[in-house]
Amino acid sequence: MFERVASGEKSICVIGLGYVGLPIALEFARKFKVVGFDINPERVEMMSRGIDPSKEIEATEFEGRNIHFTANLDDIRECGVYIVAVPTPINEANEPDLKPLIGASTTVGKVISKGDYVIYESTTYPGCTEDDCVPIIESVSGLKFREDFKVGYSPERINPGDKERPLPKILKIVSGCSDESLKNISALYGSIITAGIHEATSIKVAEAAKIIENTQRDVNISLMNELSMIFNKIGINTFDVIDAAGTKWNFHKYTPGLVGGHCIGVDPYYLVHKAERLGLHPRVIAAGRYTNDNMPAHIASKAIKKLNARGKVVKDSRILIMGATFKENVSDIRNSKIADVVNELRAFSVNVDVIDPHADSAEMHHEYGFSLVPEPCGKYDGIILAVSHNEYKALENSWFENFSAPDAFFFDLKGLFRNPASRPALEYWSL
Ligand SMILES: NC(=O)c1ccc[n+]([C@@H]2O[C@H](COP(=O)([O-])OP(=O)(O)OC[C@H]3O[C@@H](n4cnc5c(N)ncnc54)[C@H](O)[C@@H]3O)[C@@H](O)[C@H]2O)c1
Repeated sequence: MFERVASGEKSICVIGLGYVGLPIALEFARKFKVVGFDINPERVEMMSRGIDPSKEIEATEFEGRNIHFTANLDDIRECGVYIVAVPTPINEANEPDLKPLIGASTTVGKVISKGDYVIYESTTYPGCTEDDCVPIIESVSGLKFREDFKVGYSPERINPGDKERPLPKILKIVSGCSDESLKNISALYGSIITAGIHEATSIKVAEAAKIIENTQRDVNISLMNELSMIFNKIGINTFDVIDAAGTKWNFHKYTPGLVGGHCIGVDPYYLVHKAERLGLHPRVIAAGRYTNDNMPAHIASKAIKKLNARGKVVKDSRILIMGATFKENVSDIRNSKIADVVNELRAFSVNVDVIDPHADSAEMHHEYGFSLVPEPCGKYDGIILAVSHNEYKALENSWFENFSAPDAFFFDLKGLFRNPASRPALEYWSL
């Protein structure tokens, strides 16, 4: 396969051009012929004009690349390698929603020919590629797995917003359904990834590796969130404790906070689902999810208590929330836990304004039913700094004080202003 792609005889097709698929497609398009396929024609049209709909990639990064963007199946029939990077969300019951993966596998089944390769990049539970996706390709195409087409899995570790670690600088795990396919897949990714390749011993091992990277992070953050509740009662600052403990060589520095986004708060549910299908009940993983999912309610209840303690009428109170994206310096609002904090506060009839220099107001309205305010306006009874965007780090104390009513509180969820000597003159609380 690798020779056929390298010689230009066959193209690479990337299916699903979001935060993960587009950077991969553009990176391969430096060296090989690439077709970028997405079911969303509006996104395809934007990418054809050199615009990344996810606002991560500059227009200059599209220049000089050997890539054609399409939403048309006929344009991908002649490709030799299909790389699938579609979303893997959860449904309302926190169970895997495989619709995009099933849709993409059906697409592959319609266009695949003998000798082709399919490589999944979407994060999923161990066994999903071979047990759930491959049978769809087989039944739609009429071809036989391993004999007629080969499959691999290479999980994505890209970190949107992280300019220090572009795709080629992130070591990539690859796997294949046979020794020969592993060699080909390894050579393919090895030609664009400068940080190195790790050949996993099987597809399931590669799937499991990715899912535990995020599960480990989720569980560790949940521990910090639980500790923050304990330290709050004791009256000490969690970030100060972490700074002190972090001086030991084997202490891992995680910080408390809201866990949203498409990965950390979602992927552990995929592992829980798989474990439960095997008759196991993974309590540590589920407890981590429970703790992290309850943080918005915890923060909102803390705010309501503060308002009450100040004798403020809750329904007449105004709170400013700074930050709506799932993490700092990105525009991604998927699974934003800020929206949960807003809903919790609004359930008490608090008036909430949300600002964010990166998030799109119309998108917020579409996803969560409320818009952003362009600028803070008037005086607030409480300010909650929820996301540590760089813009917020640079704010003067006077900025916070200008927008604060008498007796206002300041919740600094990320501990940005935890140094008492250089923080706004407001009652301070952090996780
Ligand atoms: N975003 C991240 O930081 C990140 C990092 C590592 C891994 N991942 C994983 O990568 C996968 C993709 O995530 P993402 O963040 O790029 O998603 P995304 O929502 O940014 O993009 C997905 C794209 O796939 C398209 N799509 C959906 N169904 C399709 C189909 N059937 N056929 C063709 N296109 C389809 C959508 O239109 C969209 O453009 C997920 O499994 C995710 O867990 C994401």
